Amino acid sequence: MTIRVELAERSYEVFVGPGVRHQLAEVVARVVPEARVALIVAPASLQQLKWFDIATGLEQHVLEIPEGEAAKDFATLAFLSSEFSRRGLSRRDVVVSVGGGATTDVVGFAAAAYLRGVAVIHVATSLVAQVDAAIGGKTGINIPLGKNLVGAFHQPRAVFCDSEVLQTLPERERQCGRGEIAKCWILEGRSVADLARSTLEEQIVQSVALKSRIVSGDEREGGERALLNYGHTLAHALEAQSLAGRSLDLRHGEAVAIGIAFAVRLSRRLGLVGDVDVKYQDDVLDTLGLPRQLPTGLSIDELLLAMARDKKAHHDLTFVLATTDGFQTVANISASTVREELEAAGGVS
Ligand SMILES: NC(=O)c1ccc[n+]([C@@H]2O[C@H](COP(=O)([O-])OP(=O)(O)OC[C@H]3O[C@@H](n4cnc5c(N)ncnc54)[C@H](O)[C@@H]3O)[C@@H](O)[C@H]2O)c1
Ligand SMILES: [Zn+2]
Repeated sequence: MTIRVELAERSYEVFVGPGVRHQLAEVVARVVPEARVALIVAPASLQQLKWFDIATGLEQHVLEIPEGEAAKDFATLAFLSSEFSRRGLSRRDVVVSVGGGATTDVVGFAAAAYLRGVAVIHVATSLVAQVDAAIGGKTGINIPLGKNLVGAFHQPRAVFCDSEVLQTLPERERQCGRGEIAKCWILEGRSVADLARSTLEEQIVQSVALKSRIVSGDEREGGERALLNYGHTLAHALEAQSLAGRSLDLRHGEAVAIGIAFAVRLSRRLGLVGDVDVKYQDDVLDTLGLPRQLPTGLSIDELLLAMARDKKAHHDLTFVLATTDGFQTVANISASTVREELEAAGGVS
């Protein structure tokens, strides 16, 4: 299955399905016809896996970066820039990232910055990268003051979402991807019966299609792209929380699921939707085996503070919410209303 991200001269295709990585050489020849050298970048652990047989059809070299999130820093950016230069990467050549969202983010950023922009192709190997991170051109690294604070928009030339490589992905990482799949299913209003019947590949296709469509209409997050932050206001606040000095054992996708269950209840409290909508969204989360319950022992004051600080919020307490007219960004929601719902969420069920 091929899904096109329409962005005029920056348009590209996302290939979804078992074994699509084997089309890489053919796609490289088509989308970067002048390239002579391909630099493949991946964490060491992935290079050991049986599916790591990435062939670009060009002279290729494999570079190793740290595992997961640890790679999203200036040190990796410096390392990659030096290696790109040392290996003679020119503006007509291509960089290929192979990994999860952390890898596609940092490699995408290095490609955006090196020579003010070289071509990058993402071979997305985690469910999160396949349904979210590798598509849409947002790249970046973390600094001590916050995640993803330094980055650039740099669209890839192609993205590969190969379901075969997911066979080695640990269950907890899959769960993370399912949080974003739930978000996409709900934003599209697809039925719970369809979800229960669907294969993982169909769920990936649906998520990629939604993200592609939204990015095509709003590349730089001026409007509709913000809807992809559904469930994320509380999720980001939860990710910033800790209990007794230890961070919560909650992955991003799980926090998003809890954030969705909360957001739809907040919509109901504001009179924007009714009980059927709450039940529908809960059923989607349950069908995907995702958590909905807010962890106990959290400080509501800290959650409110974190939500007001969320960088995606333009005004105090802004949420993407379900309404009878579809999903919308709703600003200026009073802190007392959000507090009431947080108190009630002690018994989300
Ligand atoms: N740019 C965007 O639009 C965007 C969107 C969503 C998330 N992100 C970013 O993506 C990152 C999260 O992505 P993630 O969840 O993929 O994390 P990740 O890249 O850290 O991958 C999670 C772990 O799974 C491993 N892994 C990946 N593929 C594997 C496979 N096939 N088999 C076995 N192990 C595998 C990785 O090596 C890593 O240890 C965050 O940094 C987040 O900020 C970016
Ligand atoms: Zn997310």
